[in-house]
Amino acid sequence: METLYEELKQELENNNQKISTVFIGGGTPSSINYKDYEPIFKLLKGYITDTAEVTIEANPNSASSDWLRAMKDFGVNRVSFGVQSFDDKKLEFLGRSHNSKRAIKAIQEANCIGFNSINCDIIYACANDTKELIYQDLYMANELGVKHISSYSLTLEEGTKFWNMTDVDMEDEELSSFVIDTLQNLGFNQYEISNFAKNNQFESKHNLGYWEYKEYIGAGCGAVGRIGDTRYYKPKVLEEYLVNPFGIEIEKLTNEDIKIEKILLGLRSKVGFDINLLDDKFKQKAYELEKCDKIKIDNNRVFNKNYLLADEIALYLS
Ligand SMILES: C[S@@+](CC[C@H](N)C(=O)[O-])C[C@H]1O[C@@H](n2cnc3c(N)ncnc32)[C@H](O)[C@@H]1O
Repeated sequence: METLYEELKQELENNNQKISTVFIGGGTPSSINYKDYEPIFKLLKGYITDTAEVTIEANPNSASSDWLRAMKDFGVNRVSFGVQSFDDKKLEFLGRSHNSKRAIKAIQEANCIGFNSINCDIIYACANDTKELIYQDLYMANELGVKHISSYSLTLEEGTKFWNMTDVDMEDEELSSFVIDTLQNLGFNQYEISNFAKNNQFESKHNLGYWEYKEYIGAGCGAVGRIGDTRYYKPKVLEEYLVNPFGIEIEKLTNEDIKIEKILLGLRSKVGFDINLLDDKFKQKAYELEKCDKIKIDNNRVFNKNYLLADEIALYLS
């Protein structure tokens, strides 16, 4: 936390704009004692706008009510719980440390403490998932009053215990549509392929910032930032980070990279993209897609009508 403080201080000093969103992530910020956050929040105060969205991720097991209350006092106004499921068998299968009872309690406590912008991550397309089970998870999150749900289909990542295992995930195309329809019926609007909010007010401004291609600072072990055409990666290994938190790996983005990223991010979310990113040949293709009712073009911006087709549409237009 001391290294993070020094690193963040320098990043904030180098940046000459006020910050409108903060996201404290990595899944388990709740495993750190709230007292250790005090200097960080004091530092941030001088650099963020009065209406900034400040999110912290929390693990249901370690997010005690004292910890949550302290976060509220520090100015956090959005909590994102890595719940994944309310089914104990599924939680065990996923190797999570919490059970359903604990997840419910953590969300209820956050509600009582006065957080009204709560996100709950739900994972689906795991082996043994059924529509009924997924429905129960989404229904429960809604019953608990969360205003935002991020629903991700399980992906097997290299370096995790699921990598190379069979019988862990399943085909997710039909399930994805089921999740979208179910959330719609529960009153959640899809504003990105995996993100749903009760109304605009509860959409994550921070997430939208990424998709709108706004610049962001990344501080901490494994953090990513992008300023202009430079994306930077802080060391992923804690020991390396502690020795040199500025041991940055840099990726220079070409105009073509930026164009493709803007198109892809725009098609995956309600943000859309500027049609002038396309040359004349591809603009014609976009008008064809509009005729087939696949996209909408409004005020020179292209909007996707079905986020599940984002990759296919991006391929067609590039
Ligand atoms: C966008 S977040 C999930 C957001 C969550 N579903 C919500 O609505 O609050 C996905 C993951 O990326 C991580 N993350 C977000 N911004 C990051 C950044 N700039 N650098 C590194 N990791 C980041 C978070 O810690 C989180 O585990």
